[in-house]
Amino acid sequence: MPEADAREDKNFHTGVPQKSEGFFLKGSNALDWGLKNRLARIFDPSSGRTVMLAIDHGYFQGPTTGLERVDLSIVPLLPHSDTLMCTRGILRSVIPPTYTKGIVIRASGGPSILKELSDEELAISIEEAIRLNVSAMAVQVFIGGEHETRSVHNLTRLVDMGNGAGIATLAVTAVGRDMVRDAKYMRLACRICAELGASYVKTYFVDEDFETVTASCPIPIVIAGGKKLPERAALQMAYDAIQQGAAGVDMGRNIFQSEAPIAMIQAVRRVVHESEKPDVAYEYFLDSKDRG
Ligand code: R5P
Repeated sequence: MPEADAREDKNFHTGVPQKSEGFFLKGSNALDWGLKNRLARIFDPSSGRTVMLAIDHGYFQGPTTGLERVDLSIVPLLPHSDTLMCTRGILRSVIPPTYTKGIVIRASGGPSILKELSDEELAISIEEAIRLNVSAMAVQVFIGGEHETRSVHNLTRLVDMGNGAGIATLAVTAVGRDMVRDAKYMRLACRICAELGASYVKTYFVDEDFETVTASCPIPIVIAGGKKLPERAALQMAYDAIQQGAAGVDMGRNIFQSEAPIAMIQAVRRVVHESEKPDVAYEYFLDSKDRG
């Protein structure tokens, strides 16, 4: 037992008001402490942005190019990511538990690339998400898709589960193959996800009016990288998205399918966290690639 604290010279700093600072992420100030703490493991509080490394592609398309051996291709990239987005199977089998940054777990699934992709169900329990110590759970939302209502219901159920445990929900706006990817559609999809309770949204960058997508979404938006582009073009896309209000990237193929993945993720970090111009970041990529 400690002795009773009988000192009379305590300092209560009565003239100093207690600090009451707002949380750094857009639209997130009213969230509970645990949720904010988990979001701060995804988004770097010093920049307010994130470089999420997305490697969950196998949940519907199997051994994607660049992900044939996650232990060899992805584990070396982990120190350069702010967060890893993956499935629980890859997390348990390959990712070292010494990785202490945020984990965003793939929380929906069902159909493979051989079937209708919008036909998803929730694919994890909240107990499992807690057990894996994840920071967020990710669910596809197919606005305009064949199973739109079910995917929206998946989102709202996941938000209920996540809010109960203090785990964030990432809504991923999935665009069907035949649908137009423009700002009008992205505004619709992102806003619906925010209105229905997602903590943040992942969407695709569009060349025209992307700033209207971020402006009309009251929570943070990160962009998916999409199909592999030349490195200079991928850096330009990340730069344009950040300058137009995105809070980061959730990038997969443009990093792990690059000819120099470590150089590429480091170049992306410069664009995201330091607002480095694409030409400068690309020069860094070339130098870093040549140095091996
Ligand atoms: C696809 O549905 C997965 O959720 C990926 O995480 C997402 O597409 C981001 O990866 P990429 O940058 O390769 O598009």
